[in-house]
Amino acid sequence: MFFKAATGLALALLAVVVHRSGRVVWHHILTTPNLPDAYYVGGNWTSHCSLIRDPASNDINFCEDITFWDHHDVHGALTDRLVLLGCDPNRKAWNTVMGPLRDPNPRGHLFLYVPTTHTVHPVALQGYPAQHDFHPLGMDIFPSHNGASSNLFIVNHARAQTTVEQFVLDPARPTEARYVRTLRLPYFVSPNAIALTSPTSFYVTNDHLLTRRLPNPIGHVLPVVETVVGLPLGWVAHVALHPSNSEDDDVVLTHTLAALGVPFANGIALSPSHTQLAVASTSLGLVYVYTVDASTPSLTLSHTIPVPFFPDNIVYDDDGALIVTGHPHFPALIHVAANKTGAMAPSWAVSLTPRSGRDARAAQGRRSYDQLAPLSASRFASAVATHEVETLFQSDGSVFGSSSTTLRDARTGAIYIAGLYEEGMLVCRP
Ligand SMILES: *[C@@H]1O[C@H](CO)[C@@H](O)[C@H](O)[C@H]1NC(C)=O
Ligand SMILES: *[C@@H]1O[C@H](CO)[C@@H](O)[C@H](O)[C@H]1NC(C)=O
Repeated sequence: MFFKAATGLALALLAVVVHRSGRVVWHHILTTPNLPDAYYVGGNWTSHCSLIRDPASNDINFCEDITFWDHHDVHGALTDRLVLLGCDPNRKAWNTVMGPLRDPNPRGHLFLYVPTTHTVHPVALQGYPAQHDFHPLGMDIFPSHNGASSNLFIVNHARAQTTVEQFVLDPARPTEARYVRTLRLPYFVSPNAIALTSPTSFYVTNDHLLTRRLPNPIGHVLPVVETVVGLPLGWVAHVALHPSNSEDDDVVLTHTLAALGVPFANGIALSPSHTQLAVASTSLGLVYVYTVDASTPSLTLSHTIPVPFFPDNIVYDDDGALIVTGHPHFPALIHVAANKTGAMAPSWAVSLTPRSGRDARAAQGRRSYDQLAPLSASRFASAVATHEVETLFQSDGSVFGSSSTTLRDARTGAIYIAGLYEEGMLVCRP
């Protein structure tokens, strides 16, 4: 009797897992997607795309996240847009999401790319504690208004625990990031990406509950089970800094759980109107779109959008299109992370553009879309009513691999792509 019930329960659970994860496990783990060497939607990649490197130090490597640092004038008009890069050339020796945890010592770096001059500059960490690790992951910087300084928050995979580092950047001295403080909370189990809601508050994803930091052998096994089975153990929290009355602390943190049960909650982005929050569920191959309640940090799930890869970081452009970047073949990414000789991991970035009402009804369930791309997203996911999905860039990894973040400047159409284990940043202009 017990055996029958247990078998029934196991089969029911298996059916749930196959139903939720079957699409991504089949397409992005068990089969190898047939991607071209490279494709760029804005023209021939050989003439439209170029790689930004720092030949002197060769440290613009393994940049998990990049973000625009916008400068506005007194009227709120955009006057300048720089690209901030968070890079960790030591990622193959220290990665608390994918492993290994071998050597936390060599620090990562920040860089600033200036599109108008096509130059890239190292950003010095001023006043950063000498013994403190620096392994940048997700980050977000508040725009500068009328020359004022900007707050920058960066997830840091430090050796003992993952923290969030706060810096200040002054547009008058843009290549200096002045250290302000380290945010530590018991809830920071595995913070991944940040979306600022004000200069002193943000949403943050927590990708796993069961992490690589657990003692071995479970630290090797449970995070992989959580990922592959798509266990709903990730979450989104809202964190706010408030001035403190106590003499010991200069700020008090409030931490609110905003959305629970998101499998592998990874990239996060707040829409330009601040009414929607998008979260990438890596292990389900979905983007969750939440409605933001303006008076509280609480979130209401509105809908989900399937994407043709394991989504990593996501960013809204100025026009409200969501740019989603990720990993089309998970085993290849694991081989690259494990430093296997000759391994390369493919790249894919898509735009999700909101549809109007009539387009939406016509599009529902349509099989053919994204027809320009050599490997169409329509091979992997059926159309959704809410958004038009279009490939911006894809590569089998030979031209640009392991894409983790893409930014699009809607004024020029230029895109900037960083790769978790790739050297340099790719810039493509139409
Ligand atoms: C892109 O340009 C290269 C070099 O000029 C050329 O060999 C290739 O055929 C072009 N590809 C396409 C799709 O036009
Ligand atoms: C990765 O492999 C290369 C040789 O293929 C080696 O030089 C390098 O030290 C390795 N990196 C790590 C972090 O093990």
